[in-house]
Amino acid sequence: MTFMTRLLTGSALVLAMAIPAAAKEYRIAVGDGAGGTQEALGKAFVAALEEKTGGEMTGKLFLNGQLGDEQDTVTAAATGTLDFSILAINNITPFSPSVGTLTLPYVILSQDDAEAITQGEVGQQMIDQTIEDAGVRIIGWGYSGFRVLTNSKQPVSTVEDLKGLVVRVPKNEIMIETYKAWGINPTPMAWGETFAALQQKVVDGQDNPYMTVYAMKFDEVQKYITDLHYIFSIEPLIVSEALFESLSEEEQQQVLEAGKQATQDSAAFLREEEAKIREELVSRGMEISAPANDEKEFMDLATAAVWPKFYDQIGGKEVLDNVLTSLGREPA
Ligand code: MLT
Repeated sequence: MTFMTRLLTGSALVLAMAIPAAAKEYRIAVGDGAGGTQEALGKAFVAALEEKTGGEMTGKLFLNGQLGDEQDTVTAAATGTLDFSILAINNITPFSPSVGTLTLPYVILSQDDAEAITQGEVGQQMIDQTIEDAGVRIIGWGYSGFRVLTNSKQPVSTVEDLKGLVVRVPKNEIMIETYKAWGINPTPMAWGETFAALQQKVVDGQDNPYMTVYAMKFDEVQKYITDLHYIFSIEPLIVSEALFESLSEEEQQQVLEAGKQATQDSAAFLREEEAKIREELVSRGMEISAPANDEKEFMDLATAAVWPKFYDQIGGKEVLDNVLTSLGREPA
């Protein structure tokens, strides 16, 4: 059964079940617009939660950062003023630096890597660490694909081609340092300001997965795509730890199970949708370039300069080595 049919069947089941009048409805902040990974993860979570609780618990999605910018939603959930949030992993890293291991350039090299790491022992360690550091619990993982570079000025396939471009990055040290390793000074900016900045040409470009470029309608303000693979974007679904602790044991279990189901659905969603979305962006006029020499120059510059800079911040070189070896790769 495809993700879409599962979702539709799940919703139909819950409708048939009739949601009890006293159902608890939680607010779920979503950073991106409709049609992308974050919304799909949120819908899958709500469907699974309703199914597992017989409709006693449900959730309402607030798309497009309506409940605050992604980084602000972490603080809101930690202080108990927000229930759940779905955001890109790079926007959790400032609150829980060890999670940054997964945003180091060229660590995650495929969707299989992303699923293995997040659903395995390393993922569990990051969940525990995030509760301690940030007061939020990751209960599900969305998978968005590699962050590709978009810009409105010129095709980019070499590091040299980047010169002269003003590129927006999230307020994330690892990503800032990666662009510096490629020879340009990027512009850190909150997610919610990015569309307007691209539209008004305050910046020329940005990077995000195809799914996100589509969900945010960036094709309206960007022309060129470079098919980079430096970060595979993972989208954690977080719950306020204070809220989670206030639930009964049975409810906690239901929330965790719903998060697991949504994680599986998100992986299927990306496998089913990414190629179609990429084609759709091309049919809307975007042009895709492959990085020259199989991306070697981008990769060599970024890994050599960026990895060592962040060993201390992520909790030691051994944290990265643990991720690499658990993916069957050589330590750094
Ligand atoms: C960002 O670039 O800030 C995030 O990756 C945006 C997102 O959540 O999709």
